[in-house]
Amino acid sequence: MIRRLDHIAIAVPDIEAAIKRFVEDLGIELAGREDVPTQSTTTAFLPVSGTQIELIHPINGEGPVQAFLDKRGGGLHHLCFETDDIDTDMNCLKEKGYRFLSEEPQPGAHGTRVAFIHPKSAGGVLIELAEYPKE
Ligand code: CO
Repeated sequence: MIRRLDHIAIAVPDIEAAIKRFVEDLGIELAGREDVPTQSTTTAFLPVSGTQIELIHPINGEGPVQAFLDKRGGGLHHLCFETDDIDTDMNCLKEKGYRFLSEEPQPGAHGTRVAFIHPKSAGGVLIELAEYPKE
């Protein structure tokens, strides 16, 4: 079951410039950075009011975020909802006809398990589901 909006991801061609914009110009605090090798991305997290902005940038000019930058030059990339049971949610959504970018959840940032709903299944919006490790 979906619990909350975990993050809004923005693909950026220059992550240092993007961090500078959010921190210095918009006054939002940088909470941390993390590489996510399974997605070929490096990320920066900036919490805002119970959710966070996640800046994403390709590692080594590879992967889906690089393809997005090549095509669109940056911008809103995906929404991520936190779920308490990603396996059940994936199965329910598959039964309703939704397609996913991977058949099984993949390792995401912060020790999460994540899966992406194909944007063609969701009105052109790329939606990520993320389940945090149980305490
Ligand atoms: Co994400």
